[in-house]
Amino acid sequence: MENNKEFHTVRGYEILNKDKRKLTPSMEDYLEMIYRNYLTEGYIRINHIKEKLHVRASSASKVVQKLSELGYLDYEKYGIIQLTEKGREIGKSLLERHKTIETFLKNLGVGDNAFIDTELIEHDLSMDTLNKIQIFNHFFAANPDIIKRLHQFKISNHDDK
Ligand code: CO
Repeated sequence: MENNKEFHTVRGYEILNKDKRKLTPSMEDYLEMIYRNYLTEGYIRINHIKEKLHVRASSASKVVQKLSELGYLDYEKYGIIQLTEKGREIGKSLLERHKTIETFLKNLGVGDNAFIDTELIEHDLSMDTLNKIQIFNHFFAANPDIIKRLHQFKISNHDDK
């Protein structure tokens, strides 16, 4: 786990906090996904968004429109959609928030459900709780024996895998 890199996310969380009232959970999902895509491909189109998020093209267009109005996206000619600088900043913090929670769940021993459960809870946690989870992740990373002991404990006390 690249735990050293996670320390500067506190600023990301601050940005997120500031913009929170304008963004619905669904809009956050769009921005997180578009940012993931930005890291690998740079830009995205409506059809790709539609497939990735399992939504209709008309819904995708509506949300993209709204996110453009709020200054997160540039909806250019030929259907190319790109993140603005503000969009990249918030996308980065949304992705980091996701990773923080998913790492935490995996540390607890959550397997296949970790991603989906993260998608369900990530929108509603306070900055304070996220920061505490982040510290917990760093603690786990710095003390791998604790995770080993946790798994041992589960096996011997709770019949868990
Ligand atoms: Co997510």
